[in-house]
Amino acid sequence: MRSLHPKLRNIRVALLTALLAIVSPGLRAATPAEIEKKIDALIARMTIEEKLGQMSQKVFADLSDKTKEEIRRGRWGSLYSGGTPAQKAEAQRIALKESRLGIPLIYAQDVIHGLTTTFPIPLGQAASWDPELVRQAARVAARETAAAGIHWTFSPMMDIARDPRWGRIAEGFGEDPQLASRMAVAMVRGYQGDSLEAADSIAACAKHYVGYGAAEAGRDYNTTWIPENLLRDVYLAPFQAAREAGLATYMSAFNNLNGVPASANAFTLRQVLRDEWKFDGFVVSDYTAIAELIPHGYASDAADAALKGILGGVEMEMVSTTYWDHGKELVANKQLDPKLLDQAVRDILRIKFRLGLFDAKGQYTPVPAAPPAAAALETARKLAAESLVLLKNQNGALPLAQSIGKIAVIGPLADSARDQLGTWAMGPTDTARTPLAALREALGAGRVVYAPGLKNSQDESHDGFAPAVEAARGADAVLLFLGEEASLSGEASSRAYLDLPGAQEALVNEVAQAGKPAIAVILAGRPLTFHNVAAKAGAVLYCWHPGTMGGPAIADVILGKLAPSGRLPVTFPRTVGQVPIYYNHLNTGRPAAETGPAAEEKYQSKYLDVSFTPEYPFGFGLSYTTFAYGSPHLSAPRMRVGDSLTVSAEVANTGTVEADETVQLYIRQLAASLAQPVRELKDFRRVHLKPGASQTVEFTLPSSALAFHKGAQLVTEPGAFQVWIAPHSSAGTPGQFTLVP
Ligand code: BGC
Repeated sequence: MRSLHPKLRNIRVALLTALLAIVSPGLRAATPAEIEKKIDALIARMTIEEKLGQMSQKVFADLSDKTKEEIRRGRWGSLYSGGTPAQKAEAQRIALKESRLGIPLIYAQDVIHGLTTTFPIPLGQAASWDPELVRQAARVAARETAAAGIHWTFSPMMDIARDPRWGRIAEGFGEDPQLASRMAVAMVRGYQGDSLEAADSIAACAKHYVGYGAAEAGRDYNTTWIPENLLRDVYLAPFQAAREAGLATYMSAFNNLNGVPASANAFTLRQVLRDEWKFDGFVVSDYTAIAELIPHGYASDAADAALKGILGGVEMEMVSTTYWDHGKELVANKQLDPKLLDQAVRDILRIKFRLGLFDAKGQYTPVPAAPPAAAALETARKLAAESLVLLKNQNGALPLAQSIGKIAVIGPLADSARDQLGTWAMGPTDTARTPLAALREALGAGRVVYAPGLKNSQDESHDGFAPAVEAARGADAVLLFLGEEASLSGEASSRAYLDLPGAQEALVNEVAQAGKPAIAVILAGRPLTFHNVAAKAGAVLYCWHPGTMGGPAIADVILGKLAPSGRLPVTFPRTVGQVPIYYNHLNTGRPAAETGPAAEEKYQSKYLDVSFTPEYPFGFGLSYTTFAYGSPHLSAPRMRVGDSLTVSAEVANTGTVEADETVQLYIRQLAASLAQPVRELKDFRRVHLKPGASQTVEFTLPSSALAFHKGAQLVTEPGAFQVWIAPHSSAGTPGQFTLVP
């Protein structure tokens, strides 16, 4: 055959590609209209059983003949957790090739803070105040997850929590809607990438929709009562931000919200999510949450639960089987409009199409599990380091001098790989690098004497105390690795006390007898109360559960290779009796004064037996350097509704170490038709400053950022405002401006 001129050859290739794309649209991303047409065609052919199957999800416990047969029949739309890669590939092959309509399964898993590489728990990630790094970590998680044949993660969890008794505070981004929204958006972008269809993108799931974190008394699964303005301004805010970032799915929560369980709540699931936010992905229930409508006292039996779940707007039922068991009879009895099933299936199929599961991405070829990549570990180390919050540092107790002689490493959390990974850790423990290992590596094993003192954080025995005290006596400095083991936070892990569990405080008291400088390094899934321990330590470094690379990150900070830069994403109480305590509270008619003659006044909103202020405020964290803030400068004293102001302040590194500072912008509206919080975070930025350097940090404050909800209505009310540019929520001198119509 005569060879073609290269130019003509190129044209021929282009023509062939275009033709192929027309006859086989799988080769290019389908347009939204094409997807809807395909969905129409499928729905038209689906039986009611096949529709209810799509609306059902179960744990991938096995690939028995029964399960295979069920997949062939279209009994399941999704499987989650469990299943080896080979089983996933085979189950998917059956769904695509042997089921009547060839609809792929969507595989899910709780990849909450990494799969193979474990990043800090989400509360720790929030402490970094570094959304870009959080996005990068979620990207790593997405790559590892997609490589394991999983299409969908039940993350990010974005429940605002003001109560550290609630164990699930570990899984979210803390108490503030602005910080939580920025983190939620970062994670969604990280997981979903530029396109859901990309081979290394996975669908995100915003959970738990909604209000779950307001559980009364911090007891898991408990009832929540949240007025609509608070629901919208605080609890819904991150979910709305995630929606705007293109989020694929939501998970409906376990809690009863204002009398109606969140998993049957047509107000939040239909009115807010669909009518107002125009969400077009799908909603999965939490684990058996549809069947739980019965004990909630909201459904009389399983059929009623199915009806209320579907009417409420939950499209896929996780684990319980009321939809499958009763959907057909509900339609036959005319209790359920079959169009609602079509709508649910349409939303589920839309995400399956967007993910490309009908095409190449659906046909998974297992790859051998790989250990974390070097770049992934580097991201984990960086994020862990940025999540560490220095709460106290008397007389420069930290960093330890590199020239230090011997250090004693004491405490139950110095060498517990499993515990430093935290709740919902999926990754291997053997790749986790503990603080003990990292310190030995950095200083040489001969300079590190290890005596844990306690077997784990709940150990009550004093048997290990003597060797710990002896280790302290022979050392130049003592590092106390205290806190909570992983199982004490997360789901169904609420605590009524926030103190260090077990005999940890007794251990600290005993070790203090050695009279050596002590540093408390606390690893925990929630804010703890540790006033006495902090009083005995020269420095306190709060590390959350820092993940795979927690050890090296902690060692880097302790030894001064890096300055600590984390800031608290949640208020730390002095005692559990102050809970709920959060910075963005209302003022009351009798706000308490902290100092001066007014502090003597009895009839103020405070306690007789403890201060009303927190132990450590939201946004707080020290560095190895010091920063000075100039007064805020406003571009104008007045702003019109619809306009914006710029607010700036000079921030200077007045110490001797180069470091990051997180500059925080807060506002307060002094009088409004609904009283507004004493402060609200509106923006923040990390800046890096060399010793002696300063920078003008400028924020744009649009009037829309001053809006609040009155019921469903978002209003901006003219009036007087204060504005702070400050290092944390209790610091700074406010500037003033007026919002005019
Ligand atoms: C949890 C969810 C989780 C689900 C699936 C539930 O018990 O509340 O956060 O995604 O289980 O594992």
